[in-house]
Amino acid sequence: MDQTSLTDIKTVRDVDVSGKKVLVRVDFNIPLDKSGHITDDTRIRAALPTIRYLIDHNARVILVSHLGRPDGKVVESQRLTPVADRLTQLLGKPVVKAPDCMGPEVEAMVSGMQAGDVILLENVRFYPEEEANVREFARKLASLADIYVNDAFGTAHRAHASTVGVAEFLPAVAGFLMEKEVVTIGRALEAPARPFVAIIGGAKISSKIGVITNLLEKVDYLLIGGGMANTFLKAEGYAIGKSLVEDQQIDLAKDLILRGDEKLVLPVDVVVADRLDATANFKAVDVEAVPPDWIIVDIGPRTVQKFKDIVDKAKTVVWNGPMGVFEIPPFAQGTRAIAEALAESNTISIIGGGESVAAVEQMGLADKITHVSTGGGATLELLEGRVLPGVAVLVRK
Ligand code: 3PG
Repeated sequence: MDQTSLTDIKTVRDVDVSGKKVLVRVDFNIPLDKSGHITDDTRIRAALPTIRYLIDHNARVILVSHLGRPDGKVVESQRLTPVADRLTQLLGKPVVKAPDCMGPEVEAMVSGMQAGDVILLENVRFYPEEEANVREFARKLASLADIYVNDAFGTAHRAHASTVGVAEFLPAVAGFLMEKEVVTIGRALEAPARPFVAIIGGAKISSKIGVITNLLEKVDYLLIGGGMANTFLKAEGYAIGKSLVEDQQIDLAKDLILRGDEKLVLPVDVVVADRLDATANFKAVDVEAVPPDWIIVDIGPRTVQKFKDIVDKAKTVVWNGPMGVFEIPPFAQGTRAIAEALAESNTISIIGGGESVAAVEQMGLADKITHVSTGGGATLELLEGRVLPGVAVLVRK
């Protein structure tokens, strides 16, 4: 199955949900602070279109999610109670939090539901059978409902009971978030408006080998920044001082440089610092002139300009991974400049992966980007060209 066929999945629009019990897998794996307050509700908001549609179409909505990695046992701090409260506020109607995700009490709650009611089941990863995708567990979960909707794009790379197993027992369709993610990213990969540019950053090549290899086949330009650029620069023969480097990936970097030819664009200058903190001395230097004891912390201004010129001409840009150590403000300028270039351009812009998403959100630019993915690992796997198990089980049109 290629990614194009993924744009063909049936969605909630293609089934009659009226009066039906609909089990909706959502990804409410959101960050909580030490007192249990939600620090970022993006993933809850992202599921609202599907939930609202189901309410408006008289479905009985049974939401199921994981939160964190409780490892198959009940962890009090990973209960979904704060999520139910937040969802109640966002929907403007009560969302009842079930005490469990299955069993007699939950069954009684479900059979008492009226059209338009919403309940949120307890963290499905409190059971080890969830991650092990145990068939009997999936069957019990499925027995609560008539239809299964998967809207948990962020968890679609996991073959678990609530993302894959249940689809054996119920008609399985995508929610609107799942559809938007898969169609937007899938189209960009399979039939992009060109020039098609990928910007890849982050600390390590080793975590993005699959992404770089797959994208190199498809893009017109692949721009490399972040810590991983150091390994490419070393492979090109530059001295990189005390910068982060993956020596065991040098041969791979050489091979990618050869394969990428003119497509692969590396930094021509970098920002170096004498240590990794906000009070360090720092300066921009050409890649030939990195001082022996200094650390590369960002792309330099000439590189920013070069990357911007390429982005300006692009029709599709996929960006994953920061351009420098962006959590330390003086070293965030390269990442900031790329975010601004994307926000200002008319290109189809897709940002995927935790840190680059955090960067555009911190900068208040997320609403100027065509698509900010809610996935971390799932987005990377899609960019690697892999078929996500949670998508593969959905019914095709
Ligand atoms: C995520 O946050 O990437 C998803 O919710 C999946 O979580 P997991 O990595 O614990 O499976």
